[in-house]
Amino acid sequence: MSEIQPVKKAIIPVAGLGTRMLPATKAIPKELLPVTDKPVIQHVVEEAIAAGINEIILVTRSGKEAIENHFDAHFELETQLERKGKDTVLTSIRDIIPPHVQVISLRQPEALGLGHAILCARRVVGDNPFAVMLPDVLVMPSSAPGQLNDFSNMVNRWDSSGHGQIMVEAVPNDQIHQYGIADIDGAELGVGKASPLSAMVEKPKFEDAPSNLAVVGRYVLPNQVMQLLKNTKPGAGGEIQLTDALDELLKHESMDAYRMSSITHDCGNKLGYLKANIAMGLEHPELRERLKSYIKTMAQID
Ligand code: G1P
Repeated sequence: MSEIQPVKKAIIPVAGLGTRMLPATKAIPKELLPVTDKPVIQHVVEEAIAAGINEIILVTRSGKEAIENHFDAHFELETQLERKGKDTVLTSIRDIIPPHVQVISLRQPEALGLGHAILCARRVVGDNPFAVMLPDVLVMPSSAPGQLNDFSNMVNRWDSSGHGQIMVEAVPNDQIHQYGIADIDGAELGVGKASPLSAMVEKPKFEDAPSNLAVVGRYVLPNQVMQLLKNTKPGAGGEIQLTDALDELLKHESMDAYRMSSITHDCGNKLGYLKANIAMGLEHPELRERLKSYIKTMAQID
């Protein structure tokens, strides 16, 4: 058996227009909207780094340069903060990307779908396995002390098995048509556990769906996916779908559906974004208590 290469690269597609969040996202990339005190994409990048990723590949488009700026040094601001002795805030902007991590960005020239965005990164990925992390999806960090985050668990599962890992969570029946859906042949899948996938289908109707387990935007994938994406025809919504390439891969390779133990918030829609702010605010050491008491007061209003 050939040696399993560790996953060190993560592709984060950021070329979307953020239309569900207008007017907030007219001039600001949706990925930079703050969840508590950090842009949503910074939470995702931190999740990647915590799992051992050391190369972040942003697939972006014109008009979204502010995302690259956020992960770059800001000499003038840093000098000012240094001069004023604002050390804590200085550290908070300097340490966004630790020295061992590199951020690379490249462009998706046309909005042809998630699969196409991933394919745009093929030269940077080279022959390596890679992760895909969708930046709208905020995966709440594990609250149990000492417990690894779900994405880290997936990376560890790849390292020991060499099987692609697809994060899934159970969704209500009326939401099935919005997601990629995993087929695990009717097996029971407990939280924090994984089960072999037999197929994947993008945005099926409820009647046709093989389960209620939705793909939630975290993938650890073997390199072969890039080859398959080159030949993937437009699918659901007329877009080149990552799910279709993965379904094809399953004819030759084993992959697992990993059922997350945490919860997600979709920051690409208004309600999900508000919930993410409340949930993250309640985890924030400086904000938790005051936010909790404010929510209690508000909850008395009908
Ligand atoms: C994408 C994927 C889909 C996945 C979803 C998760 O769809 O194609 O399989 O379930 O993200 O958010 P999108 O939401 O971009 O239409």
